[in-house]
Amino acid sequence: MAKTRTSSFGAGKRESHDASLFYDRNLYKHLFSKVESPKKLLQIEVPQARKWANKIYCESSENMKSIPDNAIALAFTSPPYNVGKDYDDDMGLQQYFDLLLNVAKEVYRVLRPGGRYVVNIANLGRKPYIPMNSFLYQIHMQAGFLPMGEIIWQKAKGANGSCAWGSWKSAKAPRLRDLHEYLLVFTKLAYARPDRGESDISRDEFMESTLSVWNVPPESAKRVGHPAPFPVELAERVIRLYSYVNDIILDPFVGSGSTCIAALKNKRDYVGYDISKKYCAIARKRINQFL
Ligand SMILES: C[S@@+](CC[C@H](N)C(=O)[O-])C[C@H]1O[C@@H](n2cnc3c(N)ncnc32)[C@H](O)[C@@H]1O
Repeated sequence: MAKTRTSSFGAGKRESHDASLFYDRNLYKHLFSKVESPKKLLQIEVPQARKWANKIYCESSENMKSIPDNAIALAFTSPPYNVGKDYDDDMGLQQYFDLLLNVAKEVYRVLRPGGRYVVNIANLGRKPYIPMNSFLYQIHMQAGFLPMGEIIWQKAKGANGSCAWGSWKSAKAPRLRDLHEYLLVFTKLAYARPDRGESDISRDEFMESTLSVWNVPPESAKRVGHPAPFPVELAERVIRLYSYVNDIILDPFVGSGSTCIAALKNKRDYVGYDISKKYCAIARKRINQFL
């Protein structure tokens, strides 16, 4: 197949694209320096024993001492929103960011080279609008992560009955009604896994999941018994796209255990952390019902 170089016109559908000129530009040169060669990454020892896995730890994920370094292939989570849900403390923004940074550093430690951290977050409020996604990029890059993409999780199709439009049919104070949340995708040290493994994603799902907008209906809080669960289906899509069969999947804010169920359904091992005894119990119960 012919290769094109970076040009004003992009590449045609049938040509593969040589992007080296783009990545050699000053835009990229000094921003990200942490990519390691696959050869070097393969020298980093990945622990094989798993006796700490397939457990829910009822502890803060700021210190995941039970998990050894370089052991986890993929972490997927939605952090506490700090907006007054049952489990939320009333933290100031800086205190909240410190928590997310501490957890990000721990996730970085336990991820294997080329391991991914996918963080589900919604932006908040309107007066002002708090762009959490933007703050979370800063926090995770500070912890050492390389950003590798962003998925818009579209939870509803629109016209969803919400009437929080600010001023009706007037430019006085119209407000946007969010139909979406974000999945921020980060990686440790490399954009490709240096090791080989079995992928179980179908052709059609791969085509769909590599598009940056995902349509997945939300989960019912009442049904699950947690105020802010994400759907198991969302976690399954992340898991099949970003991990191999038999990998270990971590959720550092596991809530009702949705990520763990998704891992088990897809022949992966899991590990979850939550500080709430109540949610640890719900997660264990849901997992046991699945087993
Ligand atoms: C948005 S919820 C996660 C919901 C989960 N994705 C689900 O599907 O059920 C965030 C969770 O973080 C937990 N949490 C808050 N601070 C924590 C900490 N320091 N360490 C571990 N978990 C924490 C809360 O108890 C809450 O269950």
